[in-house]
Amino acid sequence: MKNYQFAAPCLMGVERILSNELKFMGASGVHADNGRVFFEGGAEMIARANIRSRIAERILLVCAQFEARSFEQLFDGVRKVNWSEYLPENAQFPVSGSCLSSQLRSVSDCQSIIKKAVADSLASSYHTKGMLPETGSVYKIRFLILKDNVCVMLDTTGDPLHKRGYRANANDAPMKETLAAAIVDIAGVRPLRNIDPDSSAGKKISVKVIDPCCGSGTLVIEAAQKALNIAPGIARSFVSESWELLPMQIWEKERQLAREDVRSKVDFIAVGSDIDEEALCIARENAEKAGVADYVTFEKRDLREFDLSVPKDMDSVEQKNKMIVVCNPPYGERLLDITEAEELYTVMGERFVKTDCASYHIICPDDEFERFFKRRADKRRKLYNGMISCCLYQYL
Ligand SMILES: C[S@@+](CC[C@H](N)C(=O)[O-])C[C@H]1O[C@@H](n2cnc3c(N)ncnc32)[C@H](O)[C@@H]1O
Repeated sequence: MKNYQFAAPCLMGVERILSNELKFMGASGVHADNGRVFFEGGAEMIARANIRSRIAERILLVCAQFEARSFEQLFDGVRKVNWSEYLPENAQFPVSGSCLSSQLRSVSDCQSIIKKAVADSLASSYHTKGMLPETGSVYKIRFLILKDNVCVMLDTTGDPLHKRGYRANANDAPMKETLAAAIVDIAGVRPLRNIDPDSSAGKKISVKVIDPCCGSGTLVIEAAQKALNIAPGIARSFVSESWELLPMQIWEKERQLAREDVRSKVDFIAVGSDIDEEALCIARENAEKAGVADYVTFEKRDLREFDLSVPKDMDSVEQKNKMIVVCNPPYGERLLDITEAEELYTVMGERFVKTDCASYHIICPDDEFERFFKRRADKRRKLYNGMISCCLYQYL
């Protein structure tokens, strides 16, 4: 079977998590670059990675990689590819991309040269006279020219992967689902085993995820989907589903395998709370759509009243780190002003008590966070929330 090369763009700082995720799916030759992970696999990886990746923003099929410092070199490099291996005669193939630190700087010129080279290759393969019809399926061509290295790719995803399909509704400052998935992974949420109905262990909750500023519920929903091993793309469609490259049976098979991997009953619960009743209504609807409503509850509560409420029967050694608190508090930009936000960080420091039963993972852009929280974090990790450079402060 033919081996293809892929590139998966992701948020900066989560490349290693994405690499592990792709290796787990059976990808080979996985290597990370800034904000991208390259990998190899058969055509079925198009369906598998799109359906299963929680971290990638999209899955791109790499068609050409070469050096170019002139428009002639750019044309020749793209023209060398036999595009009819990927695109049918009637394909629509819009071209977009970017040029960074390269001799070729004009994006619009590069766009039209790439378009011309692909059209020339298709016209010659299909013996087309005149213009190509461009009436069929969409094959979006993306290019990146970085330090004179050209990478020309086909977008297999369409709507970005953070659009899982469950969040038609969001509050004022929602977090991307891909970032939420990365945070719950870093916090240690893993797919759980099905409860053995004969075991007494089935009676107690072994993993509890809590988000006391849950907004539209993204962090707890992503945590529940992961614990239940629900593939994030199981219910959505992808642009490459209409491509001839990958028969529909493969999509059906990959979806079926993903469905079979969903856990039926696990020892998991997530609790989201917020002061905004409207956000909580949205969160409940989203959890329902995401198929995790039985595992997630939402309640109206001020962070100032946050209480870990460690169950009395919880063995503090056995249950170490089993309560996972994740939090994306207001930053004082879109919600609250900076003084109010910092006052809330101090409240968090008081309410997030140090205990063997819980770990805390707070994403915040404020460099002074630890001063307000009044405790040094055990670990810090740089992450981006959209364009905002943040740190994930971890208290373990
Ligand atoms: C940055 S948003 C969280 C967004 C969320 N991660 C999502 O994806 O929708 C911060 C949330 O904190 C909530 N909030 C502000 N002050 C709060 C307080 N004192 N107690 C609890 N929640 C609060 C806001 O209502 C808002 O929903």
